[in-house]
Amino acid sequence: MLQFIHCSHSCLYLAIMDLLLSHLIFFMLFLLPYSSFAQNKSRVEVGATITASDKAAPWLSPSHDFAFGFRKLDEQNLFLLSIWFYKIPDQTVVWYANEGIPVSAGSRVVLNPEMGLVLYDPRGNQLWKPNNLLNAIAYGSMSDTGNFMLLRGDSSPEWESFNYPTDTMLPTQIMQSGGVLNSRKSENNFSSGRFQFRLLADGNLVLNTRDVQSNMAYQAYYQSGTNDPSNSSNSGYQVVFNQMAQMYILRKNNQSMDLTPNSPPLVENYYHRATLNFDGVFGQYYHPKSSSKNPGWNIVWQQPDNICLENTPTEGSGTCGFNSICQLNINQRPICQCPQHYELLDPNDEYGSCKPRFTLSCEEDNSNKSAEDLYGFEELINIDWPNNDYVQMNPTTEMECRTSCLYDCFCAIATFDSGNCWKKRQPLANGRKYPKVNGILKVFLKYKKVDMLP
Ligand SMILES: *[C@@H]1O[C@H](CO)[C@@H](O)[C@H](O)[C@H]1NC(C)=O
Ligand SMILES: *[C@@H]1O[C@H](CO)[C@@H](O)[C@H](O)[C@H]1NC(C)=O
Ligand SMILES: *[C@@H]1O[C@H](CO)[C@@H](O)[C@H](O)[C@H]1NC(C)=O
Ligand SMILES: *[C@@H]1O[C@H](CO)[C@@H](O)[C@H](O)[C@H]1NC(C)=O
Ligand SMILES: *[C@@H]1O[C@H](CO)[C@@H](O)[C@H](O)[C@H]1NC(C)=O
Repeated sequence: MLQFIHCSHSCLYLAIMDLLLSHLIFFMLFLLPYSSFAQNKSRVEVGATITASDKAAPWLSPSHDFAFGFRKLDEQNLFLLSIWFYKIPDQTVVWYANEGIPVSAGSRVVLNPEMGLVLYDPRGNQLWKPNNLLNAIAYGSMSDTGNFMLLRGDSSPEWESFNYPTDTMLPTQIMQSGGVLNSRKSENNFSSGRFQFRLLADGNLVLNTRDVQSNMAYQAYYQSGTNDPSNSSNSGYQVVFNQMAQMYILRKNNQSMDLTPNSPPLVENYYHRATLNFDGVFGQYYHPKSSSKNPGWNIVWQQPDNICLENTPTEGSGTCGFNSICQLNINQRPICQCPQHYELLDPNDEYGSCKPRFTLSCEEDNSNKSAEDLYGFEELINIDWPNNDYVQMNPTTEMECRTSCLYDCFCAIATFDSGNCWKKRQPLANGRKYPKVNGILKVFLKYKKVDMLP
């Protein structure tokens, strides 16, 4: 504005006209496309279809914050029928259909009045549709909250993706008691993994591992404690993620237990999501809505503080696979590593089980070699597998502990701490590295020097 001060009247007039004109053009550019079709843009008509391909246009929410359609998976010609944050570089997936199984190019999704959404493979075989539809669908809608809805003729919802969450909740989404989030297998494999986030019927919110084959839930590694067997009106019944991005457990007496500890970053400027990560950590994360860089997602809060230590179910492998060792990275997220002389069972699954590169066997060895010649020990410190003990010796010495393991064909590992020796058998579960302990836990990891098997 300062430049106008030394202007003559006509000059000022021109400058103002110029300013108005540029604003007018700006408004025309901005408003015209917006008012003409953006308002109903999220309305998906019956019969609408998307075919999975590199240039398949998704169904967008009015603000374009969310998209529904086929999201191409990295480095594969596979597509996941899903909902994702459309405007940020990560295009983070928040919901997926078909149990997370991706489909090949040429697959189609169709909005069908009777079946809702139907996913077909390229040959026309039906792969997936939503369950529990009772009434005919008039249209679909991708909403700005990230909820994909199938609506009846009177615009009431018949089906909503918010009622069938996968691994993520979004602001304005509510989980009722009995609700579950399942982790995915890995960052890029959306099949169900080992971890669950469940609001139990008694009102307790828990995180637990499970047996993937049978769905048997193991002991929880996080509990909200919002269950009161003596007075159920004190018990929780909903996990609420409200429009201010605050998460809490609502009790039947209308009191609540906060999950989000402080005021989260403002929803006007930040996207929020709460995800059960593939590694078992549950957290609320935020991401700026606009940024010239790619700032990624930051933590509002996470549970548990140390999943390597807190997740110790008596069955199952724990946070990492069997024979693996869990350690936290700087974001309090677990990293899994095979011990020396062990390697990944599935080389593509870093969080999976490890197998020894040798065989421990109680068969007589006919090479006439002594145990000393056959076996060696790797010495480690402050690593433990707390549920694998089959013998405890006390009092004993470090040397006795090691020798006892050497001559014991069942012994995979021995640990020693102040006169105590624990002998442990395979498969080793819940392996964890302690960040810092008072005493020093010595670990003797037994391995076979020369494997006799062909
Ligand atoms: C949007 O759809 C509704 C319901 O079909 C209709 O009444 C309204 O006129 C539409 N608005 C625009 C701007 O097309
Ligand atoms: C994802 O993991 C599951 C379970 O381990 C496996 O069966 C499936 O083949 C994987 N999918 C992809 C696309 O890699
Ligand atoms: C249960 O707890 C509520 C408070 O949440 C209290 O008002 C009510 O009296 C209690 N009922 C019983 C049977 O103790
Ligand atoms: C809880 O709040 C809802 C809505 O505000 C109200 O309808 C209900 O009566 C309340 N319940 C109790 C037990 O206070
Ligand atoms: C092991 O020792 C026995 C007797 O001590 C001998 O007969 C046999 O040949 C030896 N085997 C090998 C592989 O050296």
